[in-house]
Amino acid sequence: ADVFTFDPGFTSTASCESAITFIDGDKGELLHRGYPIDQLAAKSHYLEVCYLLLYGELPTAQQLEDFTNRVTNHTMLHEQMTHFFRGFRRDAHPMAIVCGVVGAMSAFYHDSTDVNDPWQREVASIRMIAKLPTITAWAYKYSVGQPFVYPDNTLDYASNFLRMCFAVPAEEYVVDPILARAMDRIFTLHADHEQNASTSTVRLAGSSGANPFACIAAGVACLWGPAHGGANEAALNMLREVGSVDRIPEFIARAKDKDDPFRLMGFGHRVYKNFDPRAKVMKESADEVLALLGVENNPTLQVAKELEKIALEDPYFVDRKLYPNVDFYSGIILDAMGFPTSMFTPIFALSRTVGWISQWKEMIADEKQKIGRPRQLYTGATHRDYINVENR
Ligand code: CMC
Repeated sequence: ADVFTFDPGFTSTASCESAITFIDGDKGELLHRGYPIDQLAAKSHYLEVCYLLLYGELPTAQQLEDFTNRVTNHTMLHEQMTHFFRGFRRDAHPMAIVCGVVGAMSAFYHDSTDVNDPWQREVASIRMIAKLPTITAWAYKYSVGQPFVYPDNTLDYASNFLRMCFAVPAEEYVVDPILARAMDRIFTLHADHEQNASTSTVRLAGSSGANPFACIAAGVACLWGPAHGGANEAALNMLREVGSVDRIPEFIARAKDKDDPFRLMGFGHRVYKNFDPRAKVMKESADEVLALLGVENNPTLQVAKELEKIALEDPYFVDRKLYPNVDFYSGIILDAMGFPTSMFTPIFALSRTVGWISQWKEMIADEKQKIGRPRQLYTGATHRDYINVENR
């Protein structure tokens, strides 16, 4: 009989070879193509990191300009796409809309995505990186009943996104450079994270040769869950539910109680068992944004700071190496910027698109890659004979 290794949750299985992202969970190290995430977050910017992830090297000035122009050229959505948005219920979660619209792109570019053709893979990749901000912003606009704002290609990637989210025809909208920088940093810090659940989903979907837009939609669907990308929304909802510092002990007790399914959202990580290097940068960014917006004294933030302090000292969390993760702080920044919690995970999806695509491209180009097909340990009934319904 076949013998399989039982590895639920894939905690010890390498599903592929990859040269894109390296994580050392014990050291709290995250490298993209060898470059540490803290250097990239401080000195680089999102589109440059996109180039690095996609092509393996930092671009020259000329290469960066060409790449930026190519992305910028594709920011518009086909006008018919507006019907997709309008087809959703007004109260649809923006993540549902993003998932649906990204999937629908497979119908718009159906005949131009031969995955065996490197040029077509390239065009599909650029299209997705360019269009995700527009899709995400429009999902938001639709949810608040405001007119869609078309992309402004004179703006940088992050500023354009903020404008598409927050501009209204009646008023002039000027993007604050500090907020644009913080937005760009959120994109950069979420750009890739090796074989996490959604990336593995994209690879698995793509391993059958499926349309790339459909594969990315599968990634969006997987990211939505609260144990993954949905944690940023869940973290902020939790902070609000706690509401005030005096209620923290009650929630800490619940998090420790093994009979209570409640967990401290935004804490813990499968791989980082020391600290999350993204969380460190995100915390600095949170301080910067909050100082600018003058909301240092908001109750949610006070709860966040206190919760962080208690969790870092409490033996339950210390022993299990449960530290605040990137989603803990990104939620606070996005909240301060004026995004509703329902937009947090779509923004994560937008940011992660480049990672999904880079991994998908790497997989398709890898000759050793086979269709992903896990096996199982069967626990059901052994062979038995069918009994006619009248005899049961
Ligand atoms: N609050 C309370 N206890 C926790 C938490 C938490 N947030 N996370 C883990 N634990 C406990 C868990 O109960 C277990 O305890 P014991 O050993 O006594 O049974 C121990 O810590 C190990 O947990 P695990 O579930 O085996 O760890 P995992 O590696 O499977 O889970 C995780 C990782 C991120 C799913 C989990 O820590 C969690 O649910 N965190 C909250 C959700 C969250 O913030 N997710 C975002 C992850 S970062 C962004 C991303 O990658 O998408």
